[in-house]
Amino acid sequence: MPAYAVIGGQWGDEGKGKVIDYLAGDVDSVVRYAGGNNAGHTVVNDKGTFQLHLVPSGICWPNAYGIIGNGVVVDPDVLVAELAEIAARGIDTSRLYISERAHVIMPYHIVLDHYEEKARGDAAIGTTGRGIGPAYMDKIGRMGIRVGDLLDWDSLVPMVEQVLDHKNALITKIYGGEPLALDDVLAKCLLWAEQLAPYAKPTEQLIQDLLAQGKRVLLEGAQGTLLDIDHGSYPYVTSSSPSIGGACTGLGLNPQAISGVLGVFKAYSTRVGGGPMPSEISEAEGSEIREKAHEFGVTTGRARRIGWFDGVAAKYSQLINGFTGLVLTRLDILDGFKSIKLCVAYEVNGERLDRFPANTGLLARCKPIYEEMPGWDQPTASATELSQLPENALAYVKRIEELVGCRAQIISTGPSRGETIQVEPVFT
Ligand code: IMP
Repeated sequence: MPAYAVIGGQWGDEGKGKVIDYLAGDVDSVVRYAGGNNAGHTVVNDKGTFQLHLVPSGICWPNAYGIIGNGVVVDPDVLVAELAEIAARGIDTSRLYISERAHVIMPYHIVLDHYEEKARGDAAIGTTGRGIGPAYMDKIGRMGIRVGDLLDWDSLVPMVEQVLDHKNALITKIYGGEPLALDDVLAKCLLWAEQLAPYAKPTEQLIQDLLAQGKRVLLEGAQGTLLDIDHGSYPYVTSSSPSIGGACTGLGLNPQAISGVLGVFKAYSTRVGGGPMPSEISEAEGSEIREKAHEFGVTTGRARRIGWFDGVAAKYSQLINGFTGLVLTRLDILDGFKSIKLCVAYEVNGERLDRFPANTGLLARCKPIYEEMPGWDQPTASATELSQLPENALAYVKRIEELVGCRAQIISTGPSRGETIQVEPVFT
């Protein structure tokens, strides 16, 4: 059986956790391929509310294996704490596997994330401060420590010694900070080796085996396409590839194995952290949505910036990912609005622009060209059938389908598993 990907179409926080939990009842495995504990996926089901940062969102289903692929960066302290918390709530965590090739977020990565952000001053990215960027820098710089390295003490010690020398030089000479002690870092590694050993596996082989046995695999995106290191609003991006290409490299999976690519979009836009967002709305307008939808980061608690749906960015996201279906989330948040705006193009330097520009300065100067649609006064909240949606809400969904260029397969009308309209089957 094939693999299906669930990918954030915007700036992250599109509600992927709920969508994955909803779909995971019909799959055999849920696998994370990128990012780290900068992600915060909220899952609400019959077992309660879970805020997951590293553990794949299918963990609550007894049928599904959870796999953390090589493209993820793992903070073992966070993972171990998350597993303990889930286990204490009665969830079986023995079905989790972690790639031996996944990179480890080391203590110096977190220290450097803070120093680097501070040094950026007004141009700060607004990172989550979890050491994500520095861990990926070391991966690309070929000085990362991987989960498999933790398990081989003899080769690990000289690696850590060498890298820590370099990191301490940066911390002390560039940033004027305190060096980290080698013994402390090694002690952490020893503990992590013991804690992670039962989970470490050649996950690329595991995934291949599952697919060969006719099992269905769901690829869980974290963050969103507009935060992609290659395709997002660079440099205001994360350091990994949340889009479809990242799923292949982040798992060791060939593209032919992927049969469907679901693009998850909120019915409006949010962004957390710095960087341009052309359809952002004023604090006064945005606060209504923020309060109603509780738009605060799961990982950092920061207030999310709010905007109308950006059709230009959404079309670009479709171009990068080739979505085969759309998931529209949080439609219910727009219940009761008199009218709703949709950004259909940008205006920059007095000219209309129909595509998402690569240049961040240009993107920052883009003004939204809006189309306005009438709102609806009947609720969409908790609807489970398309026929329960008011006519104007249906028209809004249809317009988004046109702008993105693909059909809605799922519409989410509330945070819990049951508050979902399955428009058409996702798995074929
Ligand atoms: P980093 O991933 O911590 O390096 O942060 C880089 C940028 O990505 C910042 O603007 C973060 O706010 C944003 N970001 C990272 N992870 C998420 C996420 O899961 N949802 C939304 N924004 C995120």
